[in-house]
Amino acid sequence: MINQKLIEQEFSHLNEIVFLDVSSVVIPPKSVQEAYFGYTRDYIANFGEDVVSTSWALVHQTRADVASLIGADASEIGFVKNTAEGIGIIANGYPFQAGDNVIIPDLEHSSNLFAWIRLQEKGVDLRVVPSQHGGVDLTQITPFIDRRTKAIVLSAVQFTTGFYSDLYELGAFCSQQGILLIVDGIQAIGRLHLDVKAMNISYLACGGNKGLLATLGAGFVYCQSDITEQITPPYASYQSVRNHVKPPAITTNFRYLDWHIDARKLESGNLNYAGIAAIGAGVRLINQLGIQNIEQHVLSLDRRLRSALATTSLRIQTPVDPKHHSGIICIDYPQAQEEHVIEILKGKRIYATMRGGYIRFGLHAYNTETHIQTVVSALEEINALNSDSHTTP
Ligand SMILES: Cc1ncc(COP(=O)(O)O)c(C=O)c1O
Repeated sequence: MINQKLIEQEFSHLNEIVFLDVSSVVIPPKSVQEAYFGYTRDYIANFGEDVVSTSWALVHQTRADVASLIGADASEIGFVKNTAEGIGIIANGYPFQAGDNVIIPDLEHSSNLFAWIRLQEKGVDLRVVPSQHGGVDLTQITPFIDRRTKAIVLSAVQFTTGFYSDLYELGAFCSQQGILLIVDGIQAIGRLHLDVKAMNISYLACGGNKGLLATLGAGFVYCQSDITEQITPPYASYQSVRNHVKPPAITTNFRYLDWHIDARKLESGNLNYAGIAAIGAGVRLINQLGIQNIEQHVLSLDRRLRSALATTSLRIQTPVDPKHHSGIICIDYPQAQEEHVIEILKGKRIYATMRGGYIRFGLHAYNTETHIQTVVSALEEINALNSDSHTTP
């Protein structure tokens, strides 16, 4: 069960609206806002005294909190700007060789696609799997695999369809075959229970501005320690290596870098500490609410919305098979009636994503049965537009 009292305390600023747009950007809870603004306020108030040591203590604590959310070890968590940077680190830094191949579904977000497209400049073959029913399953992937397959790369949850990939099945297969499973986690982490060890995920990148309840411009990567060892990071700084000394000397070794052996190797320079403070507060709230409780809550609202929709003629794009449900539901609307659809949603103060003919509803812990009822009544009105447009000559 979701702790409603805590939700009300943390999300009272969302009371007036029906916020279903977490798949675009979350409106952070109170404790996250305080952590984010408080970080900058405090170091200004302290005239910068101890800013570096307190910031690194914050990073250290947040690594542990993020690790506990996804079943990792703190040493496997590194902080980055966003998903694209996290994916870029492995695409560019892992020793992929000409002739290797990487497998990816055709629906990936640019943040988890463009770095892989670029890798072809090195002679790596990118094998794009056509999706079916909103995503890809192992059976669709296997025909693309051969002995030069180095990685399967995909989103935990697809951003255009809400398809939740079967990461247990894919991870078990990848670990048996010695293939990396690289995951874009942004549409899943914080809303669904991902366990990177149980799922055999090799590497995961996640921005902070969606399910994590944090903010834009700060995210994290999870990197299995044996993979960290093999990555050559794109940047280097005193924070990412062991062989630095106090200024003015900086280093006594001008020949090579002695990288950290943990995920600090993947970070560089001062980080987005305010953003990391936000991630820390977001993850602590998620951990306090319980990620399993959140997942159950989100999936039960997802089921409620689906069953109410069964009585309309609106088409749900999101897959029918419950194993792929994620609490993101995409529904077609009559595009010719777009202005009316916007009016209906606005009239009920519903925030959702509208894109070329479909509405995407993203659910999180703060959503309620009442929100679903409001959405259902909006969708009934939209459905009526649908039949109006059929009957209009
Ligand atoms: C699947 C997916 N990946 C990545 C992103 C964003 O990437 P980044 O964190 O690089 O901005 C989004 C949405 O903005 C997304 O839906």
